[in-house]
Amino acid sequence: MRRIMVAGNWKMHGSQTMVRSLLESVLAGTRDNAALDVAVFPPFPYLPLVQSLAAGSPLAWGGQNLNPHAQGAHTGEVSGSMLTDFGCRYVLVGHSERRAIYGEGNADVAARYQAAQEAGLVPVLCVGETIEQREAGKTEQIVAAQIDAVLAESGVQSFGEAIVAYEPVWAIGTGLTATPEQAQAVHAFIRDKFAALDGTIAGQLRILYGGSVKGSNAADLFARNDIDGGLVGGASLTAEDFLAICRCVI
Ligand code: 13P
Repeated sequence: MRRIMVAGNWKMHGSQTMVRSLLESVLAGTRDNAALDVAVFPPFPYLPLVQSLAAGSPLAWGGQNLNPHAQGAHTGEVSGSMLTDFGCRYVLVGHSERRAIYGEGNADVAARYQAAQEAGLVPVLCVGETIEQREAGKTEQIVAAQIDAVLAESGVQSFGEAIVAYEPVWAIGTGLTATPEQAQAVHAFIRDKFAALDGTIAGQLRILYGGSVKGSNAADLFARNDIDGGLVGGASLTAEDFLAICRCVI
């Protein structure tokens, strides 16, 4: 049985005051749920604060991105080893906002995934289609290409230490959650794709759903066979909303 994971991507939101109060409530509210893995992805400057508040607790944390290079003349960038230096276990790679706004293509995302694993981080590979791609019947083709780029760079075995997040772009921040049936269909497609390469890896792989996850829809989503948790944006910014999602996992 795969453990359910609820991960909060705070995107470019927060302040020291907000991080303190949010984390104190999240730590208090998630301490006793042994069936659940919880992680938060704060903006880089708040990582040391998250580390100091959450160290020794079951809560894990990660970066929202990393540079593919280990170090060097890359002004404004952050490397994988810098994230592990602040206790990160995870890092997001290929979030749709990185792909759409900052031009990260499939090969670039694959390089970041590889760099994450070289630094000892567990990459959370984000994949998903736009509304135009869905309406053109290209969802599976787009998601497959996003995964294939990483498989070509790092191989199927690397997914023994990785997480996949299916985030349909049209559902992110729009309130338009994919129905559990729509999400399950793509999750099953992803798992089948891995199963064709390695049954054990496919069986163990955690595939999170992201896109307007809320307390009111999380239980239905998490009940589906191939949905192993959620990557939560907006609802991870208030403790009450985030904990409502966590409470869907018994
Ligand atoms: P929302 O939950 O705000 O739709 O964001 C999802 C997301 O992008 C998480 O990475």
